[in-house]
Amino acid sequence: MSMNNTVELETAQEPQIRVAIIGAGIGGLALLAALHIFDQNNKLDINLYESAHQITEIGAGIGMWPRTWNIMKELGFDEPLGNFLSSIPDNNEHIAWQLRKADQPEGIHIQNLKINGSILGFHRADVQQTFLQRTNPNSIHVNKRLTSFEETPQEGIHLHFNDGSSAKCDILVGMDGINSVVRKGLLIKQGLSTSASLDPVWTGTIAYRGLIEQAGLEAMFPGHRVLTTPVMYVGKLRHAIAYPVQHEDGKVLVNVAAFVGNPSKENTPYSEAPVSPCTQEEILDAYAGWEPEFQALLQCLSQAKRWPIADLIPLDSYASGQIFIGGDAAHAMPPHQGSGAGQAIEDAYILAKLLSHPKATKVLIPKISEVYNSIRQPRGNRVLAASIRTGLLCEFLAPGFEHVREGDAHVPFDKLHEVAELLSKELEWTWKESAEGDVERALEMFTGGL
Ligand SMILES: Cc1cc2nc3c(=O)[nH]c(=O)nc-3n(C[C@H](O)[C@H](O)[C@H](O)COP(=O)(O)OP(=O)(O)OC[C@H]3O[C@@H](n4cnc5c(N)ncnc54)[C@H](O)[C@@H]3O)c2cc1C
Ligand SMILES: *[C@@H]1O[C@H](CO)[C@@H](O)[C@H](O)[C@H]1NC(C)=O
Repeated sequence: MSMNNTVELETAQEPQIRVAIIGAGIGGLALLAALHIFDQNNKLDINLYESAHQITEIGAGIGMWPRTWNIMKELGFDEPLGNFLSSIPDNNEHIAWQLRKADQPEGIHIQNLKINGSILGFHRADVQQTFLQRTNPNSIHVNKRLTSFEETPQEGIHLHFNDGSSAKCDILVGMDGINSVVRKGLLIKQGLSTSASLDPVWTGTIAYRGLIEQAGLEAMFPGHRVLTTPVMYVGKLRHAIAYPVQHEDGKVLVNVAAFVGNPSKENTPYSEAPVSPCTQEEILDAYAGWEPEFQALLQCLSQAKRWPIADLIPLDSYASGQIFIGGDAAHAMPPHQGSGAGQAIEDAYILAKLLSHPKATKVLIPKISEVYNSIRQPRGNRVLAASIRTGLLCEFLAPGFEHVREGDAHVPFDKLHEVAELLSKELEWTWKESAEGDVERALEMFTGGL
């Protein structure tokens, strides 16, 4: 066979499947990287469109459970990400958090919440950079805000951007965050233009978030326990997590997220900016009367930001035909299980496994969306619900704890212990189960009957 024939044979192959990803957050970048890694035969033509003029990360630390770490290993990210960890993750028993009741002058150690496996703390920028390094930079287009899209019978999906430009694709994946344009399009396509899931709702909770430097905390409160152990501080209507994060140069930072709840505002619309600067007084006022070691953290938190925590009313479906959503676009959840990014990564992982499967073709895209939805919708919505319950438990708002009053230093220890037991149960899925089972089921469903 001559060279010419070979070339002809190659060009006569099935045309590439055009995949458009909207959004370069953790979800979009994880999908882009996973597709590049799995698509050995170059079957996919992948493009990512991001509205910002460059890829930046907002937010601070990010917690990763063993379930997510296993996916990182599968994608080969355990090595680069391992550089940011002070010790090699293993499957031994570790303290996920020390649980303390802190809304009183002298806090109470409730229990060490243990898991088999490590809960890992990263700087968000480090995770995004790691994903970026495994992508083709030519496939990323910044300054492209998707404004609308329509499906055509012949030419696939037409995408329209705010700069007047447009693009075409066969599969559209909205990883465009909590205010997703793709989610709205999907709901409208399904005849659900008045769905309660169209726009995010407020959980009633405000989070104060920031990173603090080891030296500052050491000076303020020598030997502070969060320099070595993650701690969850609980109290009526308020709780906080704090954990050490290793950054690039080996510097230890402490990530703090402090939550102030207002259950009467749950599921109401909100008009505040998604993130805004706040004064230190505002935070200190919110936690007046809390134990000194917790107050010390707040005193070091000089550049915290205020985040109203929004979530979604659970969606019935994450995909239909050629249109898919994942990450916060599909299941924005309160951060009380530290799982929003982990779930975005699971969406990306399963979708990449399906799209890169040797049997995946354009004609089978609707089947892929059915499988993706069957696997990811129940899981995503389950984690969303568990995150809400976890927040209620941490703030003595869950059923059975309504009578605990703010600052009550005499709650029977049994009752506190019960909080710890219930929290452990809620979190078990993050380390007792793996996403591999979901992948197997997805691939079985996809190849069944083919
Ligand atoms: C206080 C707090 C603590 C958290 N802690 C954790 C944790 O410990 N562990 C964890 O797993 N998760 C945590 N999360 C959740 C996690 O941050 C999110 O779930 C995750 O970042 C969602 O990623 P995403 O890619 O889906 O969305 P996003 O990060 O929101 O990314 C969406 C991207 O899409 C772009 N975009 C939006 N609209 C358009 C458009 N129309 N066209 C083009 N581009 C667009 C945006 O610019 C953005 O870059 C926390 C969240 C909060 C608020
Ligand atoms: C961790 O695994 C060991 C050995 O299987 C077991 O004895 C222990 O109870 C497990 N720890 C937790 C927190 O489940």
